Amino acid sequence: MIRLKNERQIDGIRRSCKLLGAMYRELIPLVKPGVRTIDLDQWTRDWIKKAGGKPAFLGYGPQKRPYPAALCVSINNEVIHGIPSKRVIREGDLVSLDSGIDLEGYISDQALSVEAGKVSDAVHALNITTNECLYRGIAAVKAGDRLLQIARAVEGHALSRGYGVVHEFCGHGVGLALHEDPQVPNYPHGPNPRMTGGMVIAIEPMINLGTGDVEVLEDGWTVVTADNKPAAHWEHTVAIFRDHTEILTEPLEHYL
Ligand code: MF3
Ligand code: CO
Repeated sequence: MIRLKNERQIDGIRRSCKLLGAMYRELIPLVKPGVRTIDLDQWTRDWIKKAGGKPAFLGYGPQKRPYPAALCVSINNEVIHGIPSKRVIREGDLVSLDSGIDLEGYISDQALSVEAGKVSDAVHALNITTNECLYRGIAAVKAGDRLLQIARAVEGHALSRGYGVVHEFCGHGVGLALHEDPQVPNYPHGPNPRMTGGMVIAIEPMINLGTGDVEVLEDGWTVVTADNKPAAHWEHTVAIFRDHTEILTEPLEHYL
């Protein structure tokens, strides 16, 4: 069931998204060679708490193995849901960050891939294209049209560059919970409802330098590419209105 949001609810989600953007603008400059990913997570927890919010990811998921951090840090061949650890970021790493804030019950969700130092030209190109895929997807949002139009736009751009599109994970409705209906895949597949005013969705292309195939590690969370080639991930929370689209999360592509 798709929960449509009223103006007041979208206001709340917008505030949560702005706060998340403010957090990222301080966090991203900390993503440098020599930093441990667990320290980025601790920083994120402290920042969100001080700002009066709650980390939306912490404790999310199955009770037997809830997600244990406020931030996902996925490096190189890790696509999404990397668990912060003592691992140290190195020069040339592609570091995908993903986080969300619960602000008075309103949930934001945003991700980006940060280049630590100088990455290879191939990885930089992948990162640029993945960000473009996100904006192609957003440009395909239109009330009255079908949702899988987003998927076609994302997939088309990625495939035109010879990249792999991850099929096993997708975007989602968001705002009153972290994961709501509808699913928002990055390839045309599954239910294809009409987009309508009041829908709030997270669009999040996960694009691989090699094939789109992925595996989940023993920790139950970390998603890696099957061929161990790098992957990039960009995500915005987007509100759909009858006559326009609003990107609720803040632009971060100037970090590219
Ligand atoms: N943006 C990610 C997603 O939508 C974040 C979820 S991480 C989790 O899947 F731990 F909270 F599940
Ligand atoms: Co998401």
